[in-house]
Amino acid sequence: MNKTGFIFDLDGVIVDTAKYHYLAWKNLADELGIEFTIEDNENFKGVSRRRCLEILLEMGGISVSKEQFEAWLVEKNEDYLQYILKMDENEILPDVKRILNYLKEQKIPMALGSASKNAIPILEKVSLLRYFDAIVDGNSVTKAKPDPEVFLIAAAKLGVDPLGCVVFEDAVAGIEAANSAKMLSIGIGDSEVLSESKFSFEDFTKIDIDFLNKLVLSLQERNNKG
Ligand code: BG6
Ligand code: MG
Repeated sequence: MNKTGFIFDLDGVIVDTAKYHYLAWKNLADELGIEFTIEDNENFKGVSRRRCLEILLEMGGISVSKEQFEAWLVEKNEDYLQYILKMDENEILPDVKRILNYLKEQKIPMALGSASKNAIPILEKVSLLRYFDAIVDGNSVTKAKPDPEVFLIAAAKLGVDPLGCVVFEDAVAGIEAANSAKMLSIGIGDSEVLSESKFSFEDFTKIDIDFLNKLVLSLQERNNKG
């Protein structure tokens, strides 16, 4: 069994796709006559596509048939995919590659743990798929974050005890999921919002190699004791 593993959320950690989710939800909201702002979009971060649509319809006080609901899910996603098609490596968030390269050099197993059903096409577009030893996405889970399922499956696929895993997350629900999986959570973004994380950084440019090395050593010790 590997001693340590690193798990990355996708949207908001590796790439800033929140802006494309926003544009696609806004298009649908406009069509339905629902006011939808960039602040409203904050509540959609880390939340499954299905749940996002439920929230949007609740905001507009709209109830619909199952068929209509499914059709709007497809419409939103097709719109979103138009933006994804244009993505390339320039959309990788600052210093993500520096950290991925370092962990790869150290032969530390890495997994993706995302709520998105579009995770693989996005990683392909930004040429990062090859870094990951396991991909756990919205297609492979039955329970959404804050349930720890996504991260526990990722740890199992990496062959790492959850106690030896580090999770990078930008969403409150994701931090909660990592904590309940007994993993070490690192918030990427606003430290006040991500106050439940063990550590937090504004972005990856603020994470140095010394920090990562110490982290790996402390996890190995934690694992040895456990
Ligand atoms: C999460 C995003 O990663 O994936 C959410 O933060 C999004 O905003 C969710 O709703 C589902 O994504 P997709 O690509 O399956 O619609
Ligand atoms: Mg995210």
